[in-house]
Amino acid sequence: MSQSQFVSKCTADSLQHAAKALLEGHLVAFPTETVYGLGADALNEDAISRIYEVKGRPADHPLIVHLHSMQVIGLWVDDVPEYAIALGRDFWPGPMTLIFKRSSLAQDFITGGQNTVGIRIPNHVAAVGLLEAFYNMGGRGIAAPSANRFGHVSPTTAQAVKDELSEYMNPEDHILDGGPSIIGVESTIIDCTGEVPRILRPGAITVEMIEGSTKLKPAYANSANAELIRVSGSLEKHYAPAARVILDKTPTTGQGFIAPSRRVTPTGVKRLAAPKNLDEFARDLYSALRKADELGLAEVVVEQPQGDGLAIAIRDRLERASKGR
Ligand code: TXA
Ligand code: MG
Repeated sequence: MSQSQFVSKCTADSLQHAAKALLEGHLVAFPTETVYGLGADALNEDAISRIYEVKGRPADHPLIVHLHSMQVIGLWVDDVPEYAIALGRDFWPGPMTLIFKRSSLAQDFITGGQNTVGIRIPNHVAAVGLLEAFYNMGGRGIAAPSANRFGHVSPTTAQAVKDELSEYMNPEDHILDGGPSIIGVESTIIDCTGEVPRILRPGAITVEMIEGSTKLKPAYANSANAELIRVSGSLEKHYAPAARVILDKTPTTGQGFIAPSRRVTPTGVKRLAAPKNLDEFARDLYSALRKADELGLAEVVVEQPQGDGLAIAIRDRLERASKGR
C-alpha cells in the first residue's frame, strides 16, 4: 500500500492537523534538530503501546517526553536541582535530555516503571510548533523515541522515517517533513537525580559545556549502572545499519567508506560521506550509513573522528554500530 499520503510539509495547517491526530491517539513522526522522533500523546497508554509496536522495541525501555517550554516541566517532574536549572537555561531548547524524578503524570508506560522521567525541549521550529499546538489543545507532552526500528540507525529525514516505518504505521498516522536534521546524532542525556550531573549518552551538548554551565564535574554512567537504568542506546549493538560497520581500516574494493574529506577514496571503493569537520560528520553519518544499505553494500569502513566534543558522541554511536550481532 502506498503510504505517501501521510507525509506532509510542516505548514501551520499540517502542524494543527498533526497535533489533533496525536490527541486522537495516532502517531506523528516529527523533525527535531537531532533526529526524527516518533511521537504519541504521553498520557495515552494505547498510543504509547503503538510506539513500541511500530519500533519493535521492548516495553521496559523508557521514552523521552518532549515539551515546548521550560514553564511546563513542573507538570512532569518533581525536584529540579539547581544545576539542572542552569543546564535548561543554557541549552534548552536544544539537543539535551534531562532525567528527573517523575511526577504522578509520568506513568509507568512512559518511564518503563522507573521513578524517573526524561524531558527534552527540542530546538526545531516545526517540533516546537507541534508541541505548542498540542499543548494549546489540552495535550500535556509528546513522548517520542527516535523514529527507527529498534537497534537500527536513527532517521534524519522524513524519507528515512517513511522507508523505515511506513509499513508498520496506520493511514491515520502522520510523518511531518521538516527537512534534514541539522545535528544528526541523538541528544545528550544527563541524569539530574544525583549530586552532580551524570552523562548517560554523549551528544552535541559536551562535557565541557555541561561543566561550564553547572560549575560541576559531570560523572559518566559506566556500563553496569547504565544497564540498571535501561538506556536502550547503551545496549552494546545499536545505531546499526544492515551493512557490517568496520572501524579505522583501509577500505578495499566493494566496500563503502565514510571518512574526513582529506582522505582519498581508493579505487573501487564507494565513498558515502566526506565530512569537512565534526559538525558535518555528525550531520551526515546516519544518512551515509543508510545509503550503504540502499546500495546493498555488505560492509562499510568508517574512519572515526579524533578528539573531544562532538567526536565523543560520534565514536560512541560508531562503536555500537560496529558491534557484532
Ligand atoms: O535526540 C533525541 O533524544 C531523540 C529525539 C527524537 O528527541 N530521541 C531519542 O529517543 O533518541 P530514544 O528513545 O531513541 O532514546 C532515548 C534514550 C533511550 O535509550 C531511553 O532508554 C533513555 O533515553 N531514557 C529515556 N527516559 C529515561 C529515563 N527516565 N532514565 C534513563 N534513561 C532514559
Ligand atoms: Mg533511539
